[in-house]
Amino acid sequence: MGEQIRPVTRKFIEPPPSTSSIVRPVARKFEGAETLEGAGVRLRRMFSGNEVPLLDPFLLLDNFGSSNPADYLAGFPWHPHRGIETVTYMLNGEVAHEDSLGNGGRIGSGDVQWMSAGSGILHQEMPQRTEGQLAGFQLWVNLPRRLKMEVPAYRGLRANGIPVVKTPDGGVVKVVAGTFDGVKGPVREIPVDPTYLDVTVPKESEFSLPVPAGQTVFAQTVDGTGRFDAHPTTRGLSTASAGEAVLFGEGDRVQIQAGGEGLRFLLVAGRPLHEPVAWYGPIVMNTQSEILEAARELQRGTFIRSPRVVREE
Ligand code: CO
Repeated sequence: MGEQIRPVTRKFIEPPPSTSSIVRPVARKFEGAETLEGAGVRLRRMFSGNEVPLLDPFLLLDNFGSSNPADYLAGFPWHPHRGIETVTYMLNGEVAHEDSLGNGGRIGSGDVQWMSAGSGILHQEMPQRTEGQLAGFQLWVNLPRRLKMEVPAYRGLRANGIPVVKTPDGGVVKVVAGTFDGVKGPVREIPVDPTYLDVTVPKESEFSLPVPAGQTVFAQTVDGTGRFDAHPTTRGLSTASAGEAVLFGEGDRVQIQAGGEGLRFLLVAGRPLHEPVAWYGPIVMNTQSEILEAARELQRGTFIRSPRVVREE
């Protein structure tokens, strides 16, 4: 398949006359599908390949959550990635990891691993036996064409390095990436300008955040139930409970109302890339020939180009 270069269309839109803003409606709801991944990990895949154009620049979201070690102990033994970033956020439990950059260690409760595979890494991610529930998420964020073959980069963030903002109504917002209430998250200089927040809203309280028009925004519910927009036309779509996710439509603000038990959710936003996607397993490029090239390099043992380590801890 040849490369497609789209003409750039510029739209000039008058800014709104006052401070009025458009609340983003809920465009779609995801319940997730039970999936067997890695060497036999049972997880819920919230979205993936079929939803690609909708969620650009996000490619995939996996929700791990089980109190049965047989569901996760097989883990994700050595495998490659190229052309994407993988973002692992553990809510409870531990994942042991090791990679071809020379990184290794544990991702523990509340920790985040933001890994940019660039031209290629090999790594393994092995959930450890946990008392109670192992819970966490892995999000795949696409890289723009110009950075897909860049030097890989790795960020390992401990829970205590993630700023926590307390709101006047008793809410709690952990800022991994992007800005909330003037507080900037530690993950910066990511090509799609992401926002990644872990938000807890007390019962019947409201959470509101400006999100630039044009960005893709979704929320993944962790606990409780909430109403994710106030549009009467989206009734039925707009309420989501633990384990469900919603994709927002156009607007410049999200407005979320917690139900009677309170609400915890991840709020993730980013700038779409509008580039062709060629996807094979853990490798996501722009063209089929780049996928074939990656497969050839894996066979020949030339896949890993850059042993340089970029560390931020
Ligand atoms: Co991986």
